[in-house]
Amino acid sequence: MFGSRKNKAWNELEKLYKKYEQEQMKDLFANDKKRAEKYSVSLENMLVDYSKNRINDDIMKALFALADECKLHEKIEDMFSGKKINKTENRAVLHTALRNIQNTPVYVNGRDVMPQINAVLQKMRDFSEAVRLGKFTGHTGKKLTNIVNIGIGGSDLGPFMATEALKSYWAKDIKCYFISNIDGTACAEVLNHLNPEETLFIVASKTFTTIETLTNAKTCRKWLVDALGEHAVAKHFIALSTNKEEVEKFGINPDNMFEFWDFVGGRYSMWSAIGMIICIAIGFDNFEKMLAGANAMDRHFRYTDFEHNIPVILALIGLWYNNFYNVHRYCVIPYDQYLKYLPNYLQQLDMESNGKSITLDNKKVNCATGPVLFGGAGTDVQHSFFQLLHQGTEFVPADFVIPAISHNEIGNHHLILMANILAQSEALMKGKTVEESAEELKKSGKSDEEIEKLKYYKSFSGNRPSNTIILRKIDPYTLGMLVAMYEHKVYVQGVIWNINSFDQFGVELGKKLALNILPELEGRAAVAEHDCSTKLLINHINKIRK
Ligand code: F6P
Repeated sequence: MFGSRKNKAWNELEKLYKKYEQEQMKDLFANDKKRAEKYSVSLENMLVDYSKNRINDDIMKALFALADECKLHEKIEDMFSGKKINKTENRAVLHTALRNIQNTPVYVNGRDVMPQINAVLQKMRDFSEAVRLGKFTGHTGKKLTNIVNIGIGGSDLGPFMATEALKSYWAKDIKCYFISNIDGTACAEVLNHLNPEETLFIVASKTFTTIETLTNAKTCRKWLVDALGEHAVAKHFIALSTNKEEVEKFGINPDNMFEFWDFVGGRYSMWSAIGMIICIAIGFDNFEKMLAGANAMDRHFRYTDFEHNIPVILALIGLWYNNFYNVHRYCVIPYDQYLKYLPNYLQQLDMESNGKSITLDNKKVNCATGPVLFGGAGTDVQHSFFQLLHQGTEFVPADFVIPAISHNEIGNHHLILMANILAQSEALMKGKTVEESAEELKKSGKSDEEIEKLKYYKSFSGNRPSNTIILRKIDPYTLGMLVAMYEHKVYVQGVIWNINSFDQFGVELGKKLALNILPELEGRAAVAEHDCSTKLLINHINKIRK
């Protein structure tokens, strides 16, 4: 009935958990001055220090053995070589081919996909450069300087995160906007500020059937046509999609369509035509650098032994907490304002990929799969949820991400920022004993009575794990590396849990029910049979809106 991994290495890890559960990281550090050297790994300018984790050599050995037993090497090759690893949808998974700058052939159904990928990249280069240079203008001849991406999920989160992350590379006269939510406010708030003559709409949808995107696109189309007439559409709307037929039906000229393919999953698509807004904002050469960075991580992932393989190590450590400590949550804290949307992006990447309960053998999983991911930019979040990270009843593994050099080296801001990230991971690891807390209170002149009253409140259990990822600077290449690192981490975990990380049937049920409820809210249909809670809510809304 159950079908996940409970093999030899898994059993060994269960034993190791019992053996080492009480081990304190600060003791491990005290006993091994080379611990950080041993448990850190780098790729070019990226350093990943994973020494502040509840691990030791026995544990790491068993984790690598688990990866071997799950045939991870083979599974990595399967992905890169175009095998149909997305079994439920019978598709290959080839976001890595989109950044295959070596241009080696990659076959799907016996056909090399590289020529079509390269052709679309060339078309993206031509178009984005034409917009940036003012050669492709709006209907009235004005330069298109407001670029609006209309998409949702993978057709929004990747481009949005990356465009914002690379803001210091934007062309000076170009502004980017994103409309994703079906909430009319999302459209209204963007359109209110724009001049239609200078606005380019990018309708980004893999399927071109997503109700949010199509509704938003229709609203934007009407706004444009009301101002400039029907003929303006050809100069102000482009589509990024796999579905030519639906694009044409919507009224977008196929010449203005940038294609991608079913072997590119939505949440893995910012490297494809879906990245058009990134290209227009930062220029195609920079977009190519982002692909090159991702490609560097791809090669590292594919060819490096597991003991030095960044995505593999991060995946195994995450799994260690998820499945052996039963800690089903983790957070990602970028200490860089430009990376503030990274956690939002990673939420889809991780949770839509690995929030699954059925194995690849069509059985119910017998272990926890994808954890809950949350996060936000440091230091902001130090003043919100960090209290729980430090003193909550359960620990939350954290990834801290920071560039050593800021794009805005103003005064000592960046040094303060870096001091904070380092202090947080140190504090989480070390904690503060009750004795230390009492001693500190004493030194600050507190009475014995006050010390007794406060010493527990001011102590920290410590032993709370984190990874620290130091980058050089948030440039296109580095961003590419970072995002690819997380993509591969998610894949490794999916392999070990024996689930398909590339479908997302879980989002469908709610979508279908919404289609049934819509006519009941519009008054086109009587309120049908629902559970009494849903019925009560529909009736209440209808009464208010009457
Ligand atoms: O939320 C489900 C989903 O299918 C995502 O996987 C996808 O990224 C998003 O919807 C948008 O889909 P599309 O690009 O087809 O509009």
